[in-house]
Amino acid sequence: MRKLITAVAAAVACLTAAPALAAGGAEHPKDVKYSFEGPFGRFDQAQLQRGFKVYQEVCASCHSTNLVAYRHLAMRNAPFWDENYPNPNESPYARTIAAAAQIPDIDSETGDAILRPGTVADRIPNPYPNEAAARGANGGALPPDLSVITKARHGGADYIYSLLIGYPNPPRGLTVPAGQYYNKYYAGDLSSYWAPAGVDPEEAHESVPKGGFLAMPPPLREGQVTFDDGTPSTVNNMARDVGAYLQWVTEPKLIERKQTGLAVIIYLTLFAGLVYASYRRIWRNVAH
Ligand code: HEC
Repeated sequence: MRKLITAVAAAVACLTAAPALAAGGAEHPKDVKYSFEGPFGRFDQAQLQRGFKVYQEVCASCHSTNLVAYRHLAMRNAPFWDENYPNPNESPYARTIAAAAQIPDIDSETGDAILRPGTVADRIPNPYPNEAAARGANGGALPPDLSVITKARHGGADYIYSLLIGYPNPPRGLTVPAGQYYNKYYAGDLSSYWAPAGVDPEEAHESVPKGGFLAMPPPLREGQVTFDDGTPSTVNNMARDVGAYLQWVTEPKLIERKQTGLAVIIYLTLFAGLVYASYRRIWRNVAH
């Protein structure tokens, strides 16, 4: 018994001591009330269209979304879904957007590398020809492909939003390395860059600011894109909408999945009732 108590006490001590050890770390992402959350959530199509515009005009100059083809943009629940065009390959929206893109290809007669207008079957092109070029243009850092980014980061779309708005002026006492930017929501350990004036270095570790450094300069500034629906293009709105768009990119079947889940729960509830009723009937005359 005594052993057990000691073990429990040790476990409790470890659990309570852990937060004190975790100096630095990142700020928890802000909670955005997105329309696609919860069991009955749905994408807000106007928001997805605005988010797509932010992605196209801002993020796409550095980040790829290799898994997205133009026809995907016109699927059910996608930014440009229109029930008059159930076949996304025939969607005039997807066609127009694709045709405006320049896709690297090979001339089938001469074998030369050419650029041609996109078709709905093309993937959204990568901004850089290869990884070395991408790193070369970004101070050695690789802008990650954003095809599944909301699943790849804790906090999902909330994290994307927070990261984009999370560039405050660095606190005094923090040395930001050249080519890096301070972000409150980016995970890092800033303790070796933190030397607040007038504080004993031994004590300084207790006040290390949260966040980290990353090689992405703050990508959004007020009024950068013009939204067709008149939504003001504040940094806050653009960050929120591109978060929603990247959630759709990551999980284009999110809504179908939720709807199927609901139908399954209803089915299972009815089925459970049926099974219980037959159990009662079968055992009705048997003492048990
Ligand atoms: C000037 C180029 C550039 C632009 C424009 C840009 N990014 Fe980045 N982004 C980067 C680079 C470089 C990194 C990698 C940073 C690093 O590893 O230090 C990055 C990293 C990221 C990450 C990953 C952060 C993590 O947790 O690892 C996300 C998410 C992201 N960018 C989203 C966006 C979005 C959304 C936009 C458009 C609003 C955008 N970026 C615009 C260059 C860019």
